[in-house]
Amino acid sequence: MKSLHCHRPALLALLLGMTASLIFAENGAAKPSPENFSVTTKNFALNFVVSGDGRLYQRTLGAADATTKTARTDECYPPAGDGFIWEPALQVVHADGNTSTSLIFDGVARTNDAAGRELTRISLHDPAFPLEVALNFRADRERDVVEQWTEIIHHEAGPVTLERMASTALLLPAKNVYLTHFFGDWAKEMLTPITELVTPGTKVLDSKIGVRAEQFRNPSFVLSLDGPPAENGGRVLAGLLEWSGSFQCAFDDNGQSLRALCGVNPFASAYHLNPNEIFSTPKMIWAWSTNGLGEMSRNLHRWARDFGLRDGHKTRAVLLNNWEATGFAFDFNRIVGLYDPAKEIGTELFLLDDGWFGNKYPRVNDHAGLGDWQPNRQRLPDGLAPLATEAVKRGLRFGIWMEPEMVNPKSELFDQHPDWVIAQPKRKLELQRNQLVLDLTRPEVQAFEWQTIQDILGVTNITYAKWDCNRYLTQPGSSYLAPDRQSHLWIDYVNALYALMDKTAKKYPDTELMLCSGGGGRADYGALKYFHEFWPSDNTDPVQRVPMQWDYSYFFPPMALASHVTHWGNRPIHFACSVAMSARFGMDLDLTKLSAADKAICAGAISAYLKIRDVTQLGDLYRLEDPHSNARGTLNFVSPDRARAVMFAFQLQDGSAAPVRPQGLDPAKNYTVRELNPAPGRAVIPQEGKTFTGEELMRDGVVPSCAHAIEACVIELGS
Ligand code: GLA
Repeated sequence: MKSLHCHRPALLALLLGMTASLIFAENGAAKPSPENFSVTTKNFALNFVVSGDGRLYQRTLGAADATTKTARTDECYPPAGDGFIWEPALQVVHADGNTSTSLIFDGVARTNDAAGRELTRISLHDPAFPLEVALNFRADRERDVVEQWTEIIHHEAGPVTLERMASTALLLPAKNVYLTHFFGDWAKEMLTPITELVTPGTKVLDSKIGVRAEQFRNPSFVLSLDGPPAENGGRVLAGLLEWSGSFQCAFDDNGQSLRALCGVNPFASAYHLNPNEIFSTPKMIWAWSTNGLGEMSRNLHRWARDFGLRDGHKTRAVLLNNWEATGFAFDFNRIVGLYDPAKEIGTELFLLDDGWFGNKYPRVNDHAGLGDWQPNRQRLPDGLAPLATEAVKRGLRFGIWMEPEMVNPKSELFDQHPDWVIAQPKRKLELQRNQLVLDLTRPEVQAFEWQTIQDILGVTNITYAKWDCNRYLTQPGSSYLAPDRQSHLWIDYVNALYALMDKTAKKYPDTELMLCSGGGGRADYGALKYFHEFWPSDNTDPVQRVPMQWDYSYFFPPMALASHVTHWGNRPIHFACSVAMSARFGMDLDLTKLSAADKAICAGAISAYLKIRDVTQLGDLYRLEDPHSNARGTLNFVSPDRARAVMFAFQLQDGSAAPVRPQGLDPAKNYTVRELNPAPGRAVIPQEGKTFTGEELMRDGVVPSCAHAIEACVIELGS
């Protein structure tokens, strides 16, 4: 068997930027055969075995065991065309037209990165073609989070075509696995969680919209191995794809095993890979817990604060946005007029939304101006800088909206460069929100968008930006890519976008960025690593936000969820403020039109929020009562040192003020109960001002002040 462990010259290792000795033994000598090896974290293990046929197999998830299993159904990264008959991870057309691939194990290497994560790199090759595959696993041991991705390289005589190239093809036991996924649409993002038993056949969750992952579903899901998932028990595995384009997650149950294949969507995406070029798939995040969804999320949130978001250990500012207040109807004076009330009420950052640019075709509605990023001379005669300066003078930071990837046909940009848009020749241009997507595979477009971003973010005193993307691809034709490379558009677009986002994050390290895509179309860690937060949905009705934010919190820390108080749904302002306080608080209201009573409630909410935001943004989240199945939703946060906690109760239907039992407190510590920003006119909560141990509070609970529909209560458990 050892002879099959062909420890090849280290070309792949060199090309992938690693020293040969990391993968291959010094002097080319064969290392002892690692027939069984594992990728492990604290409570998770992916176990592999190299069988007598030289192939790499994955054994079931869990603790390492000694059995060796070599059924072809269990091949770790199954290639198509040479005996494998199920859903393949890799499908290649070789330079000579051969459609078969076989992968033989070469070696495994482990390194640690500066943050202490272990990278396991498994090298495979095709014995009949000079094609090599590296499977990468980056393990965050403490959080039970493993990122997985695949690199493919070849040295054939001409390009090979990748028809399928999954990031992962993880095997799970076939019996009794439940899949939870989240259906939605504009203004309904994540609102429809679906949990279903996985049965034989292939269940596909995907999107085919190119420039963002989501319109109808987020590229995240949970697999649970002990029945439907529960908050505080059972084995669960979250899967999240780091990709802001068309994706596919296929759950292929062949009756013996269940395979989760995830990656870029193979739909219309054949990729022609030149010799010696590396194709690197997006990363897949796997997050494991043996104690249910709650622990899984807390681990993921900690991982995200360290690796998934920018400045994940820094609290986010309280923001006031003008979009709901003014829409497109504003000028310099109208905006500056919003500053003093913004400051008075306690907000820290003003965000100027859409409508500030365009001259020949002013951006006074969504029909014109996108692409012409010069400030409108009538509205803002001296540009953006004076607006930003006036904000700073009043002690507010200033942020700006931009949508650099888009163009309206009614724009000077389109007049000059009609061929810069993504379109299908011979087809009538299909507009969405009256706009088109610029073809980011084209170098001139890349340069234009980078210049646009620098022109905007380079303005003195702009320290925040909302990067929007209000349409997706429906006519995926590039006038830049060659006819036989049209299928590259889906992947090359997203990679060019990431290059742009990366440059932006590097050039403006102190500028905070919000990721937005017509609501929550880009809620994924592929883009989020360049951003501080995202806009979950244009739907800001707080009654809808309670279940929506609950669902997002399975995967994303609430500090990354922008939650704004608006008039959507016409809910009591106290309820709206309380919901926003459980995520990244912001407002999108015309403060000049708010009643004195409502203003006082908002000011009270902000001042309370400033005292607890280190707990809600940097602490651990415990989801208590699920708003999808209860008359109320309740949750609590606990500070990292467990000295303080904050509880939220959102009453959605009439009920009783039953005690809310917090979790995660230190049983021995004392906590003093205080309702924050109580709603006017409601009775004081019975435990107000009293001190209890964590054990007592977790056992007996705290009685909230809300029992009727659309009432909320925020309670601090302080030191
Ligand atoms: C999108 C965003 C909104 C707002 C508008 C501006 O719809 O989701 O928040 O920024 O664009 O046009």
